[in-house]
Amino acid sequence: MDKKLELLGLKPVNQGGFDGEWFASGAVQKVISPINGKEIASVVNCTKQESGRIITKCHAAFDEWRTVPAPKRAEVVRSLGDELRAHKDELAYLVTVEMGKTLHEGLGEVQEMIDICDFAMGLSRQLSGPGVQSERRLHRIFEQWHPLGVVAAITAFNFPTAVWSWNAALALACGDSVLWKPSYKTPLCGIACTMMAARALAKHGYDPAICSLLIGKGSEVGDLITTDPRVALVSYTGSVSGGRRVGKLVQERFGKHILELGGNNALIVSDQGDLGMALRAVFFGALGTAGQRCTTTRRAIISEKIYEQFKEKLIESYRGVKIGDPRQEDTFMGPLVDAGAVDTMMQAIEEIKQQGGAVAYGGTKLDLEGGCYVTPCIVEATPAMPIVKEETFAPVLYLMKYSTLKEAIAIQNDVPQGLSSSIVSNNILETELFLSTHGSDCGIANVNTSTNGAEIGGAFGGEKETGGGRESGTDAWKGYMRRQTVTINYSGAFELAQGIELEHLL
Ligand code: UN1
Repeated sequence: MDKKLELLGLKPVNQGGFDGEWFASGAVQKVISPINGKEIASVVNCTKQESGRIITKCHAAFDEWRTVPAPKRAEVVRSLGDELRAHKDELAYLVTVEMGKTLHEGLGEVQEMIDICDFAMGLSRQLSGPGVQSERRLHRIFEQWHPLGVVAAITAFNFPTAVWSWNAALALACGDSVLWKPSYKTPLCGIACTMMAARALAKHGYDPAICSLLIGKGSEVGDLITTDPRVALVSYTGSVSGGRRVGKLVQERFGKHILELGGNNALIVSDQGDLGMALRAVFFGALGTAGQRCTTTRRAIISEKIYEQFKEKLIESYRGVKIGDPRQEDTFMGPLVDAGAVDTMMQAIEEIKQQGGAVAYGGTKLDLEGGCYVTPCIVEATPAMPIVKEETFAPVLYLMKYSTLKEAIAIQNDVPQGLSSSIVSNNILETELFLSTHGSDCGIANVNTSTNGAEIGGAFGGEKETGGGRESGTDAWKGYMRRQTVTINYSGAFELAQGIELEHLL
């Protein structure tokens, strides 16, 4: 067992269920690192029966938790932030060995968790509703917000710790209990974070089941969570097909959901912009987390005036990318998450070729240390190719040409997904058009920066097949509470709204 992982409390064999106690007796899963194909540790999964027990305990824990004043609840969130600060290095290291992103990015991920804890702490004193002017004499109307119940966070492998925290920090401040089902590919991150949350809760004397954990395959336990009426909100981050199923099942029982599904993000490279800036934005946008962010730049839509020049420069910078062990300081791109992800990328490249796309750089498997390495791929494509409308979760970047900005925006919007978008331009007429009602149709629209790397202060999410959900900043907390409109009559007389008279009928 790696010493750094022991610092997080991980053992060679770990139980995947937590509802105040650790337990699990289902299938034993070996967790393999994509860095070198070696086993990190193993995890015992939860059976269906055990999953039911966890939901029951998490639901019961909500009963008392909701009565704790929000600023007091947020003290737990602050302690969670303290835990994360104290274990930042080793948690980032675990993220790196379990899913393969570089240590720099792993540290960035833990930083996002710390940031959302601070954000939720401040938010806990601002969960307020408006006072409303009543049309009736001596009546008072206001809106208030109450805790919802159990919030299930079903999270993806690519941000194996942060997505939970974006949900959990807000949910805890809002008075909800949290049931986490991490990705089957990254269960150890789930266990390590849950241990920190349990310590934070215990420190303030609260039931640790308020942050429960359920590890199991989505195909086995997913529906159990989404169909259970005790789960008030399902926050799902993952594929469009997974989200479609979650959305339907939750809607059928009139539960709430937050869906964060696929992106197919474009960056418009204008001839009115700084090319060095565009190069950096596309480079990090396409290659950060080895192309496995939902905000990854998948399409660069480039002005025809600079297309060739930009393509050459980009290929040159791709040539310099250091690929390898993500724990090493100078590695820019680590492995993909597993062998399946490598196969999916290779299949996509075959399809690209069949559809007339030209591979301008990379796109091969790399035989390195028994890990899941590839060379990142640049493809010259056209908007008409069906595959450019899909999200291939790998470092494959499509280059396309445009002649007018209107055309570039139309190409950008002509995909089913609507998460993130960017333009690199110093021309205010262009950037304002891009941000206007006729501009980007995405939940995120950036100027002179990448499509990825959003900060937690802004609400995060997207439109169309991206699912419409919002997590993190500004008013996303409203998704984690229920709204109540209150009318109080202190006139001593009964009066109906809309001028309806009752007295003469009595
Ligand atoms: C994701 O890939 O699921 O904006 C989230 C970003 C990160 C979040 C990515 N802050 O790239």
